[in-house]
Amino acid sequence: MKGNNIYKPVKAKVREVIDESPTIKSFVLEPERKFYFKTGQFIEVALDGIGEAPFTPSSSPLIAEQLEVTVMKTGHVTEKMHQMQGGETVGIRGPFGRGYPLEKLYGKEVLIIGGGCGFAPLRSLLYNLEAEKEKIKKVTFCYGSKNPKECIYEPYIQKLRNINEFEVMRTVDDADETWTEEVGVATVLLDKVDVNINESVAVVVGPPIMMKFSVQKLEEMGYPDKKIYLSMEKNMSCAVGKCGHCMMGEYFVCKDGPVFRYDEIKDKPDIWK
Ligand SMILES: Cc1cc2nc3c(=O)[nH]c(=O)nc-3n(C[C@H](O)[C@H](O)[C@H](O)COP(=O)(O)OP(=O)(O)OC[C@H]3O[C@@H](n4cnc5c(N)ncnc54)[C@H](O)[C@@H]3O)c2cc1C
Ligand code: FES
Repeated sequence: MKGNNIYKPVKAKVREVIDESPTIKSFVLEPERKFYFKTGQFIEVALDGIGEAPFTPSSSPLIAEQLEVTVMKTGHVTEKMHQMQGGETVGIRGPFGRGYPLEKLYGKEVLIIGGGCGFAPLRSLLYNLEAEKEKIKKVTFCYGSKNPKECIYEPYIQKLRNINEFEVMRTVDDADETWTEEVGVATVLLDKVDVNINESVAVVVGPPIMMKFSVQKLEEMGYPDKKIYLSMEKNMSCAVGKCGHCMMGEYFVCKDGPVFRYDEIKDKPDIWK
């Protein structure tokens, strides 16, 4: 986090806008000074006169000169972001919260389950693990999306498939004639993974319903709750543990999360809402 004041927005130029799917775009941001974050931490992106919204960078945490956010169009701020062409200036604040516990993944088999735009924070994690692949046994990445057009980061998937330590399995809810991989919800992939559960840690990111059923399946497979990590998304405002918008039980998701171990939060109210 060297050099970042999390309260003060840093100006960042939108260098490139990448169409990832009909509903998702990535924004390559060049901050006016180096911007450090840890994989899984989030930032607030502010548009002048419009508002601010939280996003988890989808780029490598090892690059401080440039960062990328991948954004699904859902409402006011994200709609305006989707209208950007490149060349605009935004504000970024952060990084905030607790990211992925990399030290708990070292020496292990890492099973990663992502759904939809949940691939965004996971791409940052995958970049990090890729750079440190000698520290992990293997990575199995299971990715589910609605349909082939909503499958994001195709070139990165192809790249990962060429790395020995990485296996990528994908599924879509609704296939078309172009699709040659699995069909069904993300959990169908868990029936096919080849992991040594005793040596493995699981990471799940996606829409709440997908995370709920993925966790249930992981428990059935024998994963202890202490070895399942989730990245939670709650409505946020201040992002620094002051306003209480993001509370889940006694936790502030913005400060204590967004990444939690499942046993820490399994009994909290509204965890899947
Ligand atoms: C820690 C964190 C990381 C996130 N990372 C990403 C990311 O990498 N990419 C991405 O596309 N989105 C991400 N989100 C979700 C993103 O912040 C919301 O989609 C965004 O705030 C919506 O803003 P808006 O002004 O466009 O929508 P609004 O006009 O505010 O709302 C539109 C609809 O979205 C709902 N909504 C608003 N905020 C959230 C939220 N945080 N979670 C769930 N529903 C919400 C509202 O209730 C409403 O129904 C993240 C959220 C959090 C908390
Ligand atoms: S967003 Fe304000 S306390 Fe978490």
